[in-house]
Amino acid sequence: MSAKKINVAIYGLGAIGVLIARYLREKHWVSLVGAIDIDPSKVGKDVGEIIGVGALGVKVVHDNEALEFLKDSNVDVVVHTVTTYLDKAFPQLEKAIRAGANVVSTSETLAYPWYRFPELADKLNDLAKRNNVTVLGTGVNPGFIFDTLPAFLSSVCVSVNKISVTRSIDAAKRRYPFQKKYGLSLKPDEFYEMMEKGEITAHVGYAESILLISSMLGIKIDRVVEKQEPVIAEKHVKTQYFDIPKGHVSGIRGLGIGYVNDKEFIRLELIASVGRSDYDEIVIDGNPRLKWRNEYGTSGDIATAAMVINAIPKVIEAGPGLITMKDITIPTLKIKL
Ligand SMILES: NC(=O)c1ccc[n+]([C@@H]2O[C@H](COP(=O)([O-])OP(=O)(O)OC[C@H]3O[C@@H](n4cnc5c(N)ncnc54)[C@H](OP(=O)(O)O)[C@@H]3O)[C@@H](O)[C@H]2O)c1
Repeated sequence: MSAKKINVAIYGLGAIGVLIARYLREKHWVSLVGAIDIDPSKVGKDVGEIIGVGALGVKVVHDNEALEFLKDSNVDVVVHTVTTYLDKAFPQLEKAIRAGANVVSTSETLAYPWYRFPELADKLNDLAKRNNVTVLGTGVNPGFIFDTLPAFLSSVCVSVNKISVTRSIDAAKRRYPFQKKYGLSLKPDEFYEMMEKGEITAHVGYAESILLISSMLGIKIDRVVEKQEPVIAEKHVKTQYFDIPKGHVSGIRGLGIGYVNDKEFIRLELIASVGRSDYDEIVIDGNPRLKWRNEYGTSGDIATAAMVINAIPKVIEAGPGLITMKDITIPTLKIKL
């Protein structure tokens, strides 16, 4: 690749956007040209001040001025870290695309957007093609643990009967927005009520991961089931952000199953609760049988930041349109471009 730096802007300077911006500063192949947010406490400030590294000479602009800012700054890639659902993300993605910028987004539903938002996905694909840019949804999960990694592991199998993945997370170690959306400290009935109203979501992406794997393996999934229930604290526990009395929610237990011919073909289990040990395990029942395990757990926030950063060169290389992790070559750490 040429020595020209890649101009990157962050859309959504929240917990993940800030983390990505900090790591991007260490990448000499990237020039961080600014950020976009709506939070009045951030807009107008120097990005460096928000991410805690001292002045960088680039500003946070309001979403209302995003299109102009992205065009004027010759942004090559927008890192989009705003929201989970594509309908909410669409107006931001549209501005990035119209400004001629490629996009790497952490929006979970964009990891396989044809499941929940087929019409918007087609619209986004058309828009990206017309503007000659690439849009990719990725992260740690969806994006890696529940989908890209198990699919990649199947590359040493000649046949597969079933893929099972378990992701176990100590919720206390995760960022505030994570703990909030998992309902930590709520009473169980409040948890169910807020989940029903969409005020909290816990994990979103079981179905997206299942369909991403199936698109990679070329298998047709007949039916997808998603379930989530709260984990109830057996004693009083605390995190940096929440005080959780006994009997209140200390995490979630979630399940995604993809069926082929009424048999489980993909089983994804997520247990994220306070004090739980961190590990990830993938079992492939195939020829040969295979078990992969990360005893440390794959640190969710850092891994998301890393995946997004390492996917930046990939969206530049890829052909235009709305793509998924299936469409790029394996994103590895890019020490040098
Ligand atoms: N795929 C994965 O593996 C993965 C991993 C981690 C996170 N995620 C997802 O990534 C997203 C970001 O996570 P987070 O924890 O960083 O959330 P967050 O802290 O809430 O950050 C979102 C930021 O975007 C801002 N924002 C809201 N609407 C905006 C708009 N229209 N234009 C510009 N900025 C806007 C928010 O401002 P206000 O606070 O004022 O609303 C906030 O600063 C979430 O949807 C999360 O679920 C995915």
